[in-house]
Amino acid sequence: MTQSRKPLLRALRGERLPRPPWWLMRQAGRYLPEYREMRSRARDFVALCLDPKLAAEVTLQPVRRFGMDAAILFSDILLLPHALGQKLGFEGDGPRLEPIADAAGLARLRPEGAVARLAPVFETVDRCRAALEPRTALIGFAGAPWTVAAYMVEGGGSRDFHRVKAWAYRDPAGFSRLIDLLVETTIDLLSAQLDAGADVVQLFDSWAGILPEDGFRRWVVEPTARIAAALKQRQPECFVIGFPRGAGHYYADYAAAAGVDALGLDTVVPMTVASDLQRRLPVQGNLDPVSLLVGGEKLRRDADALRRGLGRGGYVFNLGHGVLPDTPPEHVAMLARLLAED
Ligand code: CP3
Repeated sequence: MTQSRKPLLRALRGERLPRPPWWLMRQAGRYLPEYREMRSRARDFVALCLDPKLAAEVTLQPVRRFGMDAAILFSDILLLPHALGQKLGFEGDGPRLEPIADAAGLARLRPEGAVARLAPVFETVDRCRAALEPRTALIGFAGAPWTVAAYMVEGGGSRDFHRVKAWAYRDPAGFSRLIDLLVETTIDLLSAQLDAGADVVQLFDSWAGILPEDGFRRWVVEPTARIAAALKQRQPECFVIGFPRGAGHYYADYAAAAGVDALGLDTVVPMTVASDLQRRLPVQGNLDPVSLLVGGEKLRRDADALRRGLGRGGYVFNLGHGVLPDTPPEHVAMLARLLAED
């Protein structure tokens, strides 16, 4: 089967399909007992991501169970800082990195050979490609530079991310060296995933929504546009999905200037706005992960509304953010049945 027969790729070209192709952000993960089993076999989360056999198995688990139209590589956006030499751990309730506060911290990173240190990730892609049916697309990904920089500077999650913003505002030239480094290494990281057999890459910009207008343009749109342009130059056939979570009023600017092929919509983007954006680019989203958690009539109504509202254009069904760990797997099975109905 040629590339063009994959329903996901057809939708990303803007084709209208009778049933929308679907996949779910965080479709592999703690809500699946078979994931928890694999996770317990690895030393820790980073070791799991860097073990091609286990990571490929975890990537394929949800696709086998539910038949999504795409598998998403099992990895994490923070493996890039890890490969750049920043210590990474997932003890407790979230990621922990040794924060980078300034130019001196930046100088301690080791960009040479960083992407090559992620060779196990590309081997995982290769294994997944070989195991997937030809109709199923394989999605690679990276964090967008702003979001990765946010974790690198804060040293983990944060309530308001004021440290990374303060650096960007106080010393834009110095901060742009970190962003430039992330742009360059992310291009190499995503190219290597595409070379290994990914059809599509998604840029997760989870914290795009915390910047005002000028910051959004400089730290979200411009770095994304540089990455998308470089990938298209190296791999003219590739697809790039941008997910600027929380972009709100700036979604339209992002659609116009980020150079992506499709727009990932977060949970709060209203249907009217989503259909306006869809006139410019194919869209992906944006079922509330809590609707999937709750299931039943709520899930049926919400999934129907999305299909009716967005199914007339280029549309990929997804959540507006990742699957929540408490989600019953049967609700995902129910969603699969709903999406298979005519
Ligand atoms: O979507 C998928 O199924 C592919 C795998 C994937 C993971 N992380 C696995 C993971 C993807 C695409 C990501 C992206 C990611 N990672 C983002 C962007 C998307 C978003 O959620 O906003 C971010 C911000 C991260 C960083 C990260 N990784 C955090 C904040 C955490 C801790 C919070 C949490 O959900 O546990 C992680 C850990 C992580 N990444 C887990 C998984 C399955 C849980 C690890 C475990 O098993 O304990």
